[in-house]
Amino acid sequence: MNPLCLRRQLVLAAVICLTCGLFAVAADEPNLTNEQMKQFLLTAKVVKSHDSKKGVTHTMRLTLSDGTITHDASFQPIDEHKREMKLANGATELNFVDSYKYNIAAYELAELLGMGDIVPVYVERKWEGNTGSLSWWLPVKMDEAERYKQKITAPDPDAWNNQMYKIRVFDQLVSDADPNLTNVLIGENWQIWRIDFSRAFRPNKDVKSPKDLVRCDRQLLEKLKALDGNALMEKTKRYLTKDEVRAVMARRDKIVAQFQTMIAEKGEKEVLY
Ligand SMILES: Nc1ncnc2c1ncn2[C@@H]1O[C@H](COP(=O)(O)OP(=O)(O)O)[C@@H](O)[C@H]1O
Ligand SMILES: [Mg+2]
Repeated sequence: MNPLCLRRQLVLAAVICLTCGLFAVAADEPNLTNEQMKQFLLTAKVVKSHDSKKGVTHTMRLTLSDGTITHDASFQPIDEHKREMKLANGATELNFVDSYKYNIAAYELAELLGMGDIVPVYVERKWEGNTGSLSWWLPVKMDEAERYKQKITAPDPDAWNNQMYKIRVFDQLVSDADPNLTNVLIGENWQIWRIDFSRAFRPNKDVKSPKDLVRCDRQLLEKLKALDGNALMEKTKRYLTKDEVRAVMARRDKIVAQFQTMIAEKGEKEVLY
């Protein structure tokens, strides 16, 4: 589907849907910190593998065990670079990149912004001769494409929208060329995760969809303002080029400026939450 069309759906979904507020760890999920999940993903043994049922790039669902904890993970080894790529919607993308490295960069950026609960932990791992990203498998009850198709609404609209607004800010920051509804995953208690950034971190310095920036979490805005380009460069040096980091920082400046203008025009209460 046309990415613009998908983005519109995402925006629409953010506005019309509902949710309940309290998020708990799913009953059978080990209660680990992100750092512990990272260590597990980096070191646990792969004991089983099979194709993921969804998606387009044939990611593998792996089961890992460290002897105490057994948990699944998604392995994504894609690292494709093309001077020119004809997309499914007929458009052509120049200097096309589809890379697992951007998944890891997105997680590191999310951590810096206090959004480590919205993007799953992604690490770099070698498996069966291929290097790729490995992400903590999330306890998902459906994805956003299914929810949208089945017209299911979450029980608490504010809690749902507050998560979606954050995801929309993040999407503009990372400039994802493929913001697909199957990359928005929903948990048992209607918490939302954003996965799959392999076509993000495009070089544009402008915000592609300023209209998607409607409201902003207060803490996220503060974290955006405080985001330090050198810290981001350091955290992502194996995964992003300097130009890609500069583009993130340029978009950050524009996102912050847009919210500041909106606050000046509409008042803080309308814009921040
Ligand atoms: N960490 C994860 N937890 C749960 N499901 C996942 C996870 N990563 C991927 N998936 C599932 O696998 C599908 C494909 O993975 P994704 O990373 O989106 O690759 P692609 O879309 O390029 O094939 C996703 O749409 C989702 O359904
Ligand atoms: Mg995907």
